[in-house]
Order: sequence, then C-alpha cells, then structure tokens
Amino acid sequence: MELYLDTANVAEVERLARIFPLRGVTTNPSIVAAGGQSIWDVLPRLQKAVGPEGRLFAQVMSRDAAGMVKEAQQLKECVPGIVVKIPVTSEGLAAIKQLKTLGIRTLGTAVYSAAQGLLAALAGAEYVAPYVNRVDAQGGDGIRMVQELQTLLELHAPESKVLAASFKTPRQALDCLLAGCESITLPLDVAQQFLSAPAVDSAVMKFEEDWQKAFGRLSL
Ligand code: E4P
Repeated sequence: MELYLDTANVAEVERLARIFPLRGVTTNPSIVAAGGQSIWDVLPRLQKAVGPEGRLFAQVMSRDAAGMVKEAQQLKECVPGIVVKIPVTSEGLAAIKQLKTLGIRTLGTAVYSAAQGLLAALAGAEYVAPYVNRVDAQGGDGIRMVQELQTLLELHAPESKVLAASFKTPRQALDCLLAGCESITLPLDVAQQFLSAPAVDSAVMKFEEDWQKAFGRLSL
C-alpha cells in the first residue's frame, strides 16, 4: 500500500519519515496557504524531506483547462516526478485528458461521489481522491462512496487507484483500507493518532516499573 501525509510542514515530514513507511506527501492549496511559504519554495523542500523516491502531489489553481495544463507543466518543471492534482470539474476532466497525452501524471481531486471519481479515472487520472470526512460532514456516507469507487475502478478503470483523503479519525482511514484502497493520505493529527494512545504509554511504563523494581535499572 501507499501511505502519504497530507501536509506542507517540512519539519513534520522529516520527523515522521523516520517513523512511518511514507510513500510521499500530498498537499492542497489550503494546506500550502496555511504554511505561508511560496509553493515554489516548499515543493523542493518537501521532495528533499521524502527523498528522491518519495512522491509529491500538488494542485493547480486555474479554473479553465488551458490554465490547468500550463500550471501542471510548471509544477512538473519544479518537481519532475510530481503528480498534479486537478479538481474533477468539467474543465478539470478536459485538463486530465490533455495531461495524459502530454505524459503528465494526474490525480483527480475534490471527489464527492463515486460517479465523479470514475469519470476522472476514465479521463486518465492515475489517482482519484475521494473526500471521506467532507462527505460525512455533509450527511453522506464517505466510506460507502469509497467502497463503490474502489469497486468501479477495479471493474472499469484498473489502471487508476483510489487515494482516499480527508480524514478526521484513524477509523475512517482503516475502513478505506479494508474496502481495498491501496493508498491513503493522512493529516498530521490523524497520523499521530495511529500511534498515540494512553493505554500504550501506560503499558510501557508498567514494564519499566516492574523491571526497575526487580533489577534496579532500565536496560537489559
Ligand atoms: C485531498 O486531496 C485533500 O487535500 C485533503 O485530503 C482534504 O482534506 P480535508 O477535508 O481535511 O481538508
């Protein structure tokens, strides 16, 4: 499977790359804007943090297909291995088709339904990113959307992968993996929740206490 962090925080990527089996980093305009750094400065730093084999995703800002294609080319000049995120609008679908012919890899983003995600895959997107928590927050069923999209891609667009996104809890991410998704992207707080649980800390402390009492030290 492919595990990504959804962030533009270079220091946190460096820290978590030591711990997690990271495949790379995804960003979006809100994430880059919150960091306050120019995208042209932050992308090379993120690439360095994930290493030469790490994969980066960054999104275009134009609303029309021609502008999206131009920005995708600029992103590729900045980071040659980049996967360009294109919102799955009518113009976005046209851009995904053109970028496919230009050999630029894409991810269809802002996906709120299985039908929309399937269209992105059929247009040539290598990845499709359904927004699980945002669908839940609207009263929909984000996991069900992902299950349907996963099945649709397996049946009709097997060259595309679901990259499940927009999580508020580890449970949502696990449910996507159980639905068969090969790739997920986690915000930093959810990634941290995969590991930090009070019960884990107290179990380790109890081992230390018992060892210290018996042997007067904390090493083997
Ligand atoms: C994915 O493409 C998006 O960048 C992201 O996962 C959206 O997450 P949010 O709903 O937590 O903003």
